[in-house]
Amino acid sequence: MKFNVKISQNFLIEDDIKKLEPFALHAYKLLTEKLGEGKEFTGWLNLPEKTLNDSSLLDSIYQLKERSQTIKIDTLVFVGIGGSYLGTRAIHSALKGHMFTPNKYHVLYLGHHLEPVYYHQALEWLKDKHPLVVVISKSGTTTEPAIAFRFLRKWIEEKFPSEAAQRIVAITDKKKGALRKLTEEKGYTSFIIPDDVGGRYSVLTPVGLVPLGLLDIDIEQLLKGAKEMQELSLSNSNLTENLAMYYATLRHAFLLHGRPIEILATFYPQLYYFGEWWKQLFGESEGKNGKGIFPSTLLYTTDLHSMGQYIQEGSKILFETILSIENSEYDVTIPSSEDNLDELGYLEGKNLSYINKKAEEGTIMAHVDGNVPLIQLTISALNEYELGKLIYFFEFACGISSYMFHVNPFNQPGVEAYKQNMYRLLGKIL
Ligand code: PA5
Repeated sequence: MKFNVKISQNFLIEDDIKKLEPFALHAYKLLTEKLGEGKEFTGWLNLPEKTLNDSSLLDSIYQLKERSQTIKIDTLVFVGIGGSYLGTRAIHSALKGHMFTPNKYHVLYLGHHLEPVYYHQALEWLKDKHPLVVVISKSGTTTEPAIAFRFLRKWIEEKFPSEAAQRIVAITDKKKGALRKLTEEKGYTSFIIPDDVGGRYSVLTPVGLVPLGLLDIDIEQLLKGAKEMQELSLSNSNLTENLAMYYATLRHAFLLHGRPIEILATFYPQLYYFGEWWKQLFGESEGKNGKGIFPSTLLYTTDLHSMGQYIQEGSKILFETILSIENSEYDVTIPSSEDNLDELGYLEGKNLSYINKKAEEGTIMAHVDGNVPLIQLTISALNEYELGKLIYFFEFACGISSYMFHVNPFNQPGVEAYKQNMYRLLGKIL
């Protein structure tokens, strides 16, 4: 992973970095020695190594894959919301998400909102399908996935009465919640979400590994990449050498310079959902007690034609983190044209990856000139290993950055506010 900081000459942060260093070191200690608020949810810190060393989880996922060959399955339905949804969708979209990518299964996501047209159409579309439903909820009580699962369960029990239990896999807490009760009652295959890992840090638990394994994504490589970043992050508290810690500190330095909004931007649309995952990670971890950097995402060059103007010349409240990929898996070359009526002759014979890179370079130069401080994070290729590294990198950085704000990175008390109102308005007995 390459890490570059690009800021204009008049944007001086050296002194701030020095000022922030002791706070970053303190946050590092709180996180790595498990001394901070929410320390009971830091199981993800050693998870990549732990899961690779004890192969039982990977083995049971491979067994599930084998078992699922014994009945006809053409569709995978993943039910979940927030941390029980975004990690899977991020990796799935990054590696197999383009609409033209050949895939063994249809994939349907459900339970991540309450909009009825989508439900109506999804349930109609499902009618002639042969699904495997993976329902994911750590609490086992979240309304959105619970509603989705009620629809799916009823339909499966009616359409495949003798196979219902084979077509449903539950991923939830080992004891708590309605989903655990239902699972035991109905005899579904189930996987346990560890107690010490919270939703948005859970993509490398069964929450992400089961669905991603079913999608033929190399989950071992994902873990190996994360393990490399785990080792780098846990073994070195030198600010400029520990990149996740440095990134966290730079974010705070930019904030000190009046930049409370971070844009995670990329020129690779496959990373759209990775941005959604990142947004939840930072938004839900830091945004409390009146603090936090507001995380937002943009896709370039598309959004340069909508938000580029603001970034270049609007209020100076932003900084950017650009997620970049060095090598593309496939490429296309601009064809020749004798008439050159489209005036693209200067691009003939050039690869689209090269043109995309030049757009990226040009954008970075323009934004730095426009006084938008910028971090560029580059992975060598879009594969499981690199994505695993990136996941751990951001999780670690988020833990440090949240502790630098003196907030608990692992709770989300504010999410309850809408839920309690909704329950009251719907007449739920509390
Ligand atoms: O990060 C979190 O803890 C939340 O975003 C949860 O993942 C989300 O609310 C879904 O919760 P659950 O998995 O309990 O259904």
